[in-house]
Amino acid sequence: MNNMKLGVNIDHVAVLREARVVNDPDILQALYVACESGADQITIHLREDRRHIQDSDVKNIMAHSKVPVNLECSINKEILNIVSDIAPHRATLVPEKREEVTTEGGLDVFTYEDEVAFAIEQLHDSIIPVSLFVDPSIEAMEKSKDLGAEMVELHTGTFSNLFNMLNSSLPHSNHSVKEMELPRYRLSELLEESLEQIKNSAVHANKLGLEVAAGHGLNYHNVHEMMKIEEIVELNIGQSIIARSVFTGLKDAIKEMKKLTTR
Ligand code: PXP
Repeated sequence: MNNMKLGVNIDHVAVLREARVVNDPDILQALYVACESGADQITIHLREDRRHIQDSDVKNIMAHSKVPVNLECSINKEILNIVSDIAPHRATLVPEKREEVTTEGGLDVFTYEDEVAFAIEQLHDSIIPVSLFVDPSIEAMEKSKDLGAEMVELHTGTFSNLFNMLNSSLPHSNHSVKEMELPRYRLSELLEESLEQIKNSAVHANKLGLEVAAGHGLNYHNVHEMMKIEEIVELNIGQSIIARSVFTGLKDAIKEMKKLTTR
């Protein structure tokens, strides 16, 4: 029995495509492979700056997906209007800053309480269930419930960064997370704390009747920690899956080209 849903975030395929502004790799091919390979859900993020997923991708994915589509979006009015028109299976409200590389923290449901409430209302008017991508805290769970969300997605970025800083060669590379360059015992303590926060938030959200998802930075090494938390019923994972696919597919891709370039 499997009571964990895997949402596969295919934005990263569009990142590669946009680097060349050609239709290669084709996002619909990624959709097809994801559905055929057991993805329970497709997750995409229509960013305000359209750096990867484009409006036409959202429409095409909605038209062809064999599994539910979880559309991530900011609380920007223009984006919300598009999402309301498209009516995905679910909308996940996320914070968005143009200068960030990826979604670097959860949605601040306290400072932007009114805007989030308005966004939820607009999406509900279009019969779209709403998830809020929030940092794991008891207060954020309660606020999410009060605001009328059906679901929360716990931001696992801090946990993932701590895990990678503690267990991999990351601290010795130029991708080190500078603010986490700490002694190992301290990283260990912080990792425990962050797992506690995720666990306690998941339990609390569950008690409040919210569905609980988690995502950001999860990979082949750290995902087992999320599997231990029964209240989490969905994981949304992108970067590590697409990164892994380069290496599971590179050999065949080179061999195929080698065949074509052999006289
Ligand atoms: N969930 C949400 C809400 C996200 O914004 C992202 C990143 O786009 C993910 C999950 C997936 O994160 P990652 O690509 O690090 O696996």
